[in-house]
Amino acid sequence: MPRTPPEMFRIKVVEPIKLHPPEVRRKLIEDAGFNVFRLSAEDVFIDLLTDSGTSAMSAAQWGGLMLGDESYAQCRNYFTLASAIRDVFGFEHFVPTHQGRAAENVLFSSICKPGDIVINNMHFDTTRANVEAQGAEARNLPTPELFDPESDHPFKGNMDVEKLRGNIEYVGAGHIPAIFMTITNNSGGGQPVSMENIRQVSEIAREHGIPLFFDACRFAENAWFIKLREEGYGDKTVQEIVTEMFSYVDGATMSAKKDGLVNIGGFLAVRDPQLFERVAQKLILVEGFPSYGGLAGRDLEAMAIGLREVLDENYLSYRYHHTKFLADALQERGVPIMTPAGAHAVYVDAKRALPHIPREEFPGQTFTVEMYLRGGVRVVEIGSLMFAAPDPGTGEMKFPEMELVRLALPRRVYTISQLEHVADTAGEIVEHADGMGGYRIVQAPRVLRHFTAQLEPCETGKC
Ligand code: F0G
Repeated sequence: MPRTPPEMFRIKVVEPIKLHPPEVRRKLIEDAGFNVFRLSAEDVFIDLLTDSGTSAMSAAQWGGLMLGDESYAQCRNYFTLASAIRDVFGFEHFVPTHQGRAAENVLFSSICKPGDIVINNMHFDTTRANVEAQGAEARNLPTPELFDPESDHPFKGNMDVEKLRGNIEYVGAGHIPAIFMTITNNSGGGQPVSMENIRQVSEIAREHGIPLFFDACRFAENAWFIKLREEGYGDKTVQEIVTEMFSYVDGATMSAKKDGLVNIGGFLAVRDPQLFERVAQKLILVEGFPSYGGLAGRDLEAMAIGLREVLDENYLSYRYHHTKFLADALQERGVPIMTPAGAHAVYVDAKRALPHIPREEFPGQTFTVEMYLRGGVRVVEIGSLMFAAPDPGTGEMKFPEMELVRLALPRRVYTISQLEHVADTAGEIVEHADGMGGYRIVQAPRVLRHFTAQLEPCETGKC
């Protein structure tokens, strides 16, 4: 088996973590209503709930915090960030925001009206919620390969170009205020989008006068996959690839909590100067003055440094191999995963891991709870607990296409031996799958129920 190359960084600061004994973990998860979102973070050994805001910052970023200029207007760090955004993405106009969803809110409330349709390869939950909050529809047009968990198509994050054309013709460009491409496609297994697909979508968008935006959270990871997998890009630098990617779009929303390598921060960039004026006014209302947008000066500095640092090819190679290590280790232990793995997470296919548990009894949640019970590992269900809902017309329960469990990897945080522990824990679940049952919901809110729902175990088939 090929070895994982050594990390091109060393550890300067460490944070102790603890693994409670199994009986304590059982009590804690019971008290949490078998919902890992309700566990105290301190009771978690290895936390793979998200890669968002959980990165370890570099010495340069920590140093940058001390350069924070906390003046209300036009602080020094705003200009440092402006030059990073210009150099890395080629955007002249942007507003900082405290995180990605604030950029989405400011944008969609400025461009959408009720009845409009926003098209995306796949909306992330907050993006969908922000579109719907304007009375508009959030429509996903992913490529069909995405739904075959075993297909090894290199760019399963692509948008279905034919369907895009069909939708524009049917709906009419006037009702589509924006087309979005989420790079990489987080809700679709963290799969990347190819340069060819970006180019094709941008041609169609231009033909119809519809602005094209990136949801750019994981732009550098997407660029790395283009370098690795797309013909003609192997010899280009990541910066050259990023420059080309962004040359095709009219703007971007960004959660810098991912590829900005910071714990908080984001921005909204737009090329159209008139739209920029509108979003800057809106920003003052909901986030802050346009030079700080809900952040401290020091946060702007750390983000500016992170946006450049993430393009370091040693870093991106580490990131890719680190995640690949976990994916390979899981497969060696017979754990079914979505392949090929993306960069920010590995997605376990709970339908195949626990085939005897029906969708109504939340097999993804069983897997998630077992990860904590057996190994103190926190992961997240992205399946029927998160998405199943009654059809508004028929009342019949509709289940999402996939029943996934996401193991998201914070950047530069966990070691290879910690990932081995994660893989061993998942391997044990698959080995003892037969004895496991499902769950029933005891109490849950109507919207976004997975965050706070309380559940209890049930005997399979008798929930
Ligand atoms: N878009 C995508 C593709 C995301 O993955 C996220 C966040 C957002 C937008 C919103 O950004 O959290 O800064 O407001 N994803 C996190 C996750 C929460 O765990 O995947 P935010």
